[in-house]
Amino acid sequence: MSEDHPHLRSYGRLKARPIKPRQAALMESRLPQLRVPSGPVDPAALMPAARETWLEIGFGGGEHMAAQAARSPDVLILGAEPFQNGVASAVRHIEEQALGNVRLHDGDVRELMARLPDGCLARIFVLFPDPWPKARHHKRRLVQAETVAEFARLLRPGGRLRFASDWADYVDWALLRITANTAFRWSAERADDWRAPPADHITTRYEEKRLGDCAPVFLDFVRA
Ligand SMILES: C[S@@+](CC[C@H](N)C(=O)[O-])C[C@H]1O[C@@H](n2cnc3c(N)ncnc32)[C@H](O)[C@@H]1O
Repeated sequence: MSEDHPHLRSYGRLKARPIKPRQAALMESRLPQLRVPSGPVDPAALMPAARETWLEIGFGGGEHMAAQAARSPDVLILGAEPFQNGVASAVRHIEEQALGNVRLHDGDVRELMARLPDGCLARIFVLFPDPWPKARHHKRRLVQAETVAEFARLLRPGGRLRFASDWADYVDWALLRITANTAFRWSAERADDWRAPPADHITTRYEEKRLGDCAPVFLDFVRA
């Protein structure tokens, strides 16, 4: 762990290709309003009319987050992503679909989670997180006992956590670590519950690339 960052880095690049000028201008004008404010965050104050608040961790290009937000305009969706090209793409989706119920943290989700109050979330999505397949990198995986404890603190009773991956070893890893926390119950009853995409899932271009070593697996958990 470096002194600057309390957490070991769990993401890859912060920036890839240059952000297109139009997208950069949009980022500059819209991101300040979309950004979750600094300091302690009260989701109820961000969108008082919201029925509930969801958190998407590592939203990539923001396709899933924007589509969920469009489907549920009465839900506040917080999204965290440190990859600048991803944030720029998400801002474009939010603008194009005129979404008023999404707020962004353009950084490490663990910084945002630490600023959220207990039991404030109804859903958390961790979709196709960076797999860090080499054993010496496993400590960089986002799903660790500490992050699972944070998920348990933030989800209200009955709240739901979805983890998806197409890396078999990360699926096993996540299942072990999430069920090791007694706050979580895996809701699957039959193989199709984890083999088939859940009815409310939205597939992203990243997921479609099938970069992993197995078919996508979806693990849904309920917070006791
Ligand atoms: C492999 S991509 C998947 C993107 C998206 N969820 C999808 O399915 O299309 C994983 C993303 O998680 C982000 N990520 C990794 N660690 C993170 C962290 N600590 N906080 C927020 N996002 C993180 C990465 O930057 C990357 O964009």
